Amino acid sequence: MSADIIDGKAFAEGLRGRVAAAVPGFVAKTGRKPGLAVVLVGEDPASQVYVRSKGKATVAAGMESFEHKLPDTTTQDELIAVVEQLNADDRVDGILVQLPLPKGVDEKAVISTIDPAKDVDGFHVINSGKLAVGEEALVPCTPLGCLMLLKDRLGDLTGLDAVVIGRSNIVGKPMAQLLLKESCTVTIAHSRTRDLPAVVRRADIVVAAVGRPEMVKGDWLKPGATVIDVGINRVPAAEEGKTRLVGDVDFASAREVAGAITPVPGGVGPMTIAVLLRNTLVAAHARAGIGAPEGL
Ligand code: GUN
Repeated sequence: MSADIIDGKAFAEGLRGRVAAAVPGFVAKTGRKPGLAVVLVGEDPASQVYVRSKGKATVAAGMESFEHKLPDTTTQDELIAVVEQLNADDRVDGILVQLPLPKGVDEKAVISTIDPAKDVDGFHVINSGKLAVGEEALVPCTPLGCLMLLKDRLGDLTGLDAVVIGRSNIVGKPMAQLLLKESCTVTIAHSRTRDLPAVVRRADIVVAAVGRPEMVKGDWLKPGATVIDVGINRVPAAEEGKTRLVGDVDFASAREVAGAITPVPGGVGPMTIAVLLRNTLVAAHARAGIGAPEGL
């Protein structure tokens, strides 16, 4: 058996199209475009690439993009002042402070300064708290994207056994909350879990978000399981001096056992920016006091 490939790239393109199609309605009602501000501190090359693609995608969806590039000498107080200025700026519906931040800057202090209504990353404790108690919240982009792919593939998730590998605040914990809300039986596994293969083998749904290249093997999986691979790991390629991207799942062995699996690249990765645009549009509607558009 060979698993179906879950095409995150195609789903993300569709979502971006639905967001773009809903923007003119917002402009007609409010007289302005939805706006997303991205703050980048320092010169981290991967972060620069992400920020550039976020800016491009924002403009392509018909929204306003505000980029704030700050030197890596920026102090915590200076960064907080920038966030406060964006909180007060009515053109800005979403604020994303690209992580990681330079040493000496407390990420928690910065994130807690973001107006929760503009927190399109869903990292503020107000939003994680609302998610936990089942209130309307802005939800972190990557796990929300994973949930969209799962529901697209499986429909109703009620009663399914889901194992989330990884307990980060950005992916693992919100992913578990989202699956619980869909009435899955959820297990959060992590680096200290005993007999991880046995835990994973129970799962109808596996979400791997540990950051360990090709850790989850095919013989850990229940036959037919749906596998969502959040990992993006750069490893040495066969060719001298080259690298390649792999997930947290050993794709070659997993696709022999799984029912469906996301590839890396082209699975979860493209979903993150698409959901960021979706969250920005949702935040813009909420801030303007108008109903969120359907089907997003
Ligand atoms: N760095 C890597 N992924 C993310 C993300 O989703 N949001 C932010 N703010 N920074 C990141």
